[in-house]
Amino acid sequence: MVKVAIDGVVQEVRPEELLIDLINRGGGSVPHVCYHPQLGPVQTCDTCMVEIDGRLVRACAAELSDGMKISTKSAKAVAAQVEAFDRILSNHLLYCTVCDNNNGNCIVHNTTKLLAIEHQRIPFRSKPYEVDNTNPFYRYDPDQCILCGRCVEACQNVEVNETLSINWEDPNPRVLWDGGSTIQESSCVSCGHCVTVCPCNALMEKTMLGHAGFLTSLKKSALSGMIEIVKGVEPETGYGSILQVSEAESAMREHRIRKTKTVCTYCGVGCSFDVWTKDRHILKVAPEHGPANGISTCIKGKFGWGHINSEDRLTTPLIREGGKFRQASWDEALGLVARRLSAIKVNDGPDSLAFISSSKCTNEESYLMQKLARAVIGTNNVDNCSRYCQSPATAGLFRTVGYGGDSGSIADVEAADLVMIVGSNTAESHPVIATRVKSSHKLNGQKLIVSDIRENEMARRADVFLHPKPGTDIAWLSAISRYLLDNGLAHSKFLDQWVTGLAEYRKSLEPFTMEAAARISGVPEDTLKTVARMISEAKAMCILWAMGVTQHSQGSDTSTAISNLLLISGNYMRPGTGAYPLRGHNNVQGASDHGAMPNMLPGYQSVDDPEVRQRFETGWKVKLPSTKGLDNHQMVEAIYEGKLKSIYLFGEEMSIVDCNANYVADGFAKLDFFVVQDIFFSNTCRYADVVLPGAPSLEKEGTFTSTERRIQRLYQVLEPIEGCWPDWKITQEIANRMGADWSYQHPSEIMDEIASLTPMFAGVSYERLEGYKSLQWPVAADGTDEPLLYTQGFAFPDGKAKLFPVSWIGVTDAPDSKFDLHLNNGRLLEHFHEGNLTYRTEGIKEKTPDVFVEVSPELAEERGIQSGTWVQLVSRYGQVRVRALVTDRVKGRELYMPMNSVESPVNRLTSSHTDRVTNTPAYKETSVHMNVLAEVGESPLPRINSRFGHPTPQNGVQVERKWKRADYAPPGNGLVQLQTKK
Ligand code: SF4
Ligand code: SF4
Ligand code: SF4
Ligand code: FES
Repeated sequence: MVKVAIDGVVQEVRPEELLIDLINRGGGSVPHVCYHPQLGPVQTCDTCMVEIDGRLVRACAAELSDGMKISTKSAKAVAAQVEAFDRILSNHLLYCTVCDNNNGNCIVHNTTKLLAIEHQRIPFRSKPYEVDNTNPFYRYDPDQCILCGRCVEACQNVEVNETLSINWEDPNPRVLWDGGSTIQESSCVSCGHCVTVCPCNALMEKTMLGHAGFLTSLKKSALSGMIEIVKGVEPETGYGSILQVSEAESAMREHRIRKTKTVCTYCGVGCSFDVWTKDRHILKVAPEHGPANGISTCIKGKFGWGHINSEDRLTTPLIREGGKFRQASWDEALGLVARRLSAIKVNDGPDSLAFISSSKCTNEESYLMQKLARAVIGTNNVDNCSRYCQSPATAGLFRTVGYGGDSGSIADVEAADLVMIVGSNTAESHPVIATRVKSSHKLNGQKLIVSDIRENEMARRADVFLHPKPGTDIAWLSAISRYLLDNGLAHSKFLDQWVTGLAEYRKSLEPFTMEAAARISGVPEDTLKTVARMISEAKAMCILWAMGVTQHSQGSDTSTAISNLLLISGNYMRPGTGAYPLRGHNNVQGASDHGAMPNMLPGYQSVDDPEVRQRFETGWKVKLPSTKGLDNHQMVEAIYEGKLKSIYLFGEEMSIVDCNANYVADGFAKLDFFVVQDIFFSNTCRYADVVLPGAPSLEKEGTFTSTERRIQRLYQVLEPIEGCWPDWKITQEIANRMGADWSYQHPSEIMDEIASLTPMFAGVSYERLEGYKSLQWPVAADGTDEPLLYTQGFAFPDGKAKLFPVSWIGVTDAPDSKFDLHLNNGRLLEHFHEGNLTYRTEGIKEKTPDVFVEVSPELAEERGIQSGTWVQLVSRYGQVRVRALVTDRVKGRELYMPMNSVESPVNRLTSSHTDRVTNTPAYKETSVHMNVLAEVGESPLPRINSRFGHPTPQNGVQVERKWKRADYAPPGNGLVQLQTKK
């Protein structure tokens, strides 16, 4: 600690603190425009000048030392602050009253007021550039840009898309996209970081423009006139009275703009943010306080909300009659559902019904769905879509460390000195987690190893990139474990103290020599040895993995091999270490956590444990079934076997996302009674007998659990559209019509019940989750949570982890002479999954209008294919017609097809082979034959897609270049301390 005096008040502080934070925390009022706590010191604006021991210094960059005397208000400091801000105003036209950014949080406005600026000494000077309106989501107005560089800092060092820069050497600097492209044609991925941090109206969400203010929807000519008038009176009245008018207007806005916290509805990162709305119009998404994301979002969370007010939302229940659907009242539809489910239960028994919960819906909704299945129907036939992705990772962790969740937090991934990514396209599937890795790798020397069969963005950034043959990760991972053990590089102290089963495990590694691993995987031995060395030298390693591992016939075993490797190298129990199976959907973790699984009651409590059942039986006042139910995969088989008569499914597009989709859809058609609950008439609805309109996340309350086991509340942003109900209410109504007596008035009451029955969630309550507060399970009764698991031992009775032997078996559906190409599949950044939600945002559709198949340049040459050539892909199970995209992201005879299509879904091609442990489909083990069709169309990815851009990587905004300009001098001429960012 050091002692410093700020404006005469002596404080004891940590020397690594930033002076600006210290001043802000103490309620001080030194102006600062470019500083943002999540960006660090940018040092472009010079408005934060303070006097330290007689010298002028930027408060955002000053290093604290013992005995410092700091004055924020000395005449010298204030003069420098005003001079600096004057320069800023010369770059910005103050027309606050007619500005959509006049919402009380405009930093330029607020600083003008703070410094009591009455007149501008340096007149406004227009920049010789047009407004850039080309991006569908946001626009840049150079005339309003104060060149603070926050956007550049955010794009270069937080998002690390490296699109933005400022041409400091130009006579008229401005923000540049790809060094001078239009926004639309640049590498910009529309993540919105830059717009979020812009301190004024230079970068604005288009949904704000003309909507936020009372006077901002006026025609441009009228607006210009008003701006002229304001400018005209300024010399006489000064800014003080003009600002008063704009503040009155801003205050009026508070009554009609609502700001409601929610959690993103798309991927499992768990970004949270305020949604600004005016009536049903979404003005903007404002990320700031999210514990997982801070200022970060991706294109979907920031701009992908077109589905909310889409005209094709379902707004009334539908009943199939005579092969067609007709509209029905809620009373009629619910009555029919209850009658038919009851009748099937009586006639064919409880196990002839099954329930599929949604990983898009809330924890409380999954809980009620499994309660309906178990307590009202009497079956354990309940599952969720983690069966399609995450179950193998969960199984691998259950086997080895005890909890089926990420062992730490995103902050641990950020802090690790080595990150290994296996089979995950993190930059597209979990974009905000990817930003943390990219940033640590770029700025903090974090090392990155990526194994993937496709050269995705993370692979391109990696220090070591492994391209194994499809489905062979288990071999090289196990070989590295063996190599570490054989060469004295394993963490023996950790193994001795915390791990059991070493001898048996070591024996199981006998076949996994480096030579054998290289043969099986195709990765050279030297590369594997390099990886082993990097692991042994790392102080803290995290391994991230996803569908490239789990969606294989050995998905569980490979996940186990990952966890084994973490144990062998001692990478659990400490910050910056651990296992991170990245959860795909926003609440896929929570759906399983809350019992939407055929073998587990909420909190992973086994259905065959009498003590557990007893607790739930007492709580629910029913007798519960004790045998494991059917999982999703088995449900489809049971339909074909005539054992399953009815399914009630909500929020899942199962006829597209399950493997061997034709087979699944034909199965649905055989059901006696099929209920589908969704917000749109999905492809799966086509097979339903009753369709019920649910509500999207913005129209309801509840909680989601993200990949880092973080439980967060979402608040109701908008009333449900007339005719739609929150899903928990629908489930409750069905249960009650079948004789239950549920009376939940609010999801918080459901959570209270969950906490009372589930030790893992004992301390979870809506009060403890208020606003941006969150909890990472397990949560003790006193509310203590565990951001980092296993700090006191592993989740087994003896507190020790278990090494679990696995062996290499081989892949299914391998290529042969007929089906000669391997087909990989996965997500795209812009679309979520099949695109039912994201295709309803026009800007996303414009950027990424269609599905495609990626073909390597060498295969394209061999087969005479160019981007836009139509091809027919034929597998052993089905066929699709799709356009080719030639790209070196894929190599040789490996193809990649994203999932973003309902018309040509990749799952028409995938097989019914599954992971041997969990029945998760082996989606990634698919072979196809490719027929090249005569037709050649446009490239399926338009030129305006970010993938065609040319980023301009640099470290932040490079303010040193500004300081070198001939016309730059530090304000007050007294600046001595120029410091680069820590
Ligand atoms: S990628 Fe685009 S939206 Fe994201 S910070 Fe960079 S310029 Fe802004
Ligand atoms: S556009 Fe960028 S440089 Fe210009 S004011 Fe906004 S954040 Fe600052
Ligand atoms: S999709 Fe994922 S990364 Fe993107 S904003 Fe939503 S939670 Fe964050
Ligand atoms: S806040 Fe801009 S230089 Fe310090």
